[in-house]
Amino acid sequence: MEREQRVRYRVDRMSMADLPRVVEIERLAYSAPWPPSAYRKELQENQYAHYIVVRDTWAPDARPTATPAEQQSRRHFALPFLAPRAGPPLNPSLASIVGFAGLWLMVDEAHITTIAMHPVFRGQGLGELLLCSLVGIAYEIHAHNVTLEVRVSNETAKSLYRKYGFAEVGIRRRYYSDNHEDAAIMTTDDISSPGYRDHYARLRDALLRRLAAQEAPSPAGGQPGAPA
Ligand SMILES: CC(C)(COP(=O)(O)OP(=O)(O)OC[C@H]1O[C@@H](n2cnc3c(N)ncnc32)[C@H](O)[C@@H]1OP(=O)(O)O)[C@@H](O)C(=O)NCCC(=O)NCCS
Repeated sequence: MEREQRVRYRVDRMSMADLPRVVEIERLAYSAPWPPSAYRKELQENQYAHYIVVRDTWAPDARPTATPAEQQSRRHFALPFLAPRAGPPLNPSLASIVGFAGLWLMVDEAHITTIAMHPVFRGQGLGELLLCSLVGIAYEIHAHNVTLEVRVSNETAKSLYRKYGFAEVGIRRRYYSDNHEDAAIMTTDDISSPGYRDHYARLRDALLRRLAAQEAPSPAGGQPGAPA
């Protein structure tokens, strides 16, 4: 019999209930974190803002809350596509949130404001999952290109952005208030161009394969990947 294939990580729209965990990860990820009020304002007042979280649906405290219907439906949220707003109830476990990201639509440009992974979950393709999902949102909201600022010293993030076709197009001198570090401005070409669409589709497919290949932790005495 074919073994059930379940997707471990799931991307959802960020909600107010997610904020305590988002702020916790923000503090671990940034030397100059935003205050919690900034995120509240973003979610409640900024109609041009789009924020997402990535959840580890295998987190021990996340599993008991999943109904059989949710377990079933998770297979269809083949990341990095967002779970639809009208989908199953969100898993309320805050500890299952392992990263978050967001962007603003500014005229016809998607401006990435933040992207951060919990340190324990880095290096597994999940920061890429967040970026891939943001570019997916940029398509949904009909942005022409995607742009961001990044510390010139942040080679990890710059490498991730380069992978998705961002190029350094300028510098904002002394942009960061904590240490007056310069920001590199990185921007994609027109994301609706056939070349970018093709590049994005290839990266997305490879990422989905990589994440789908990750095995679930074995339940006590059970087979990896067996239904909980
Ligand atoms: C940037 C960040 C989100 C990346 O998340 P991550 O989950 O570790 O990244 P992934 O595992 O998805 O890796 C994706 C790509 O990032 C780059 N990358 C990841 N880790 C790297 C490392 N240690 N060194 C260099 N490049 C690295 C690679 O290009 C990688 O692609 P590859 O897997 O094909 O090599 C994470 O490091 C983070 O939260 N940093 C702190 C917050 C931050 O600096 N955010 C950016 C603000 S502009």
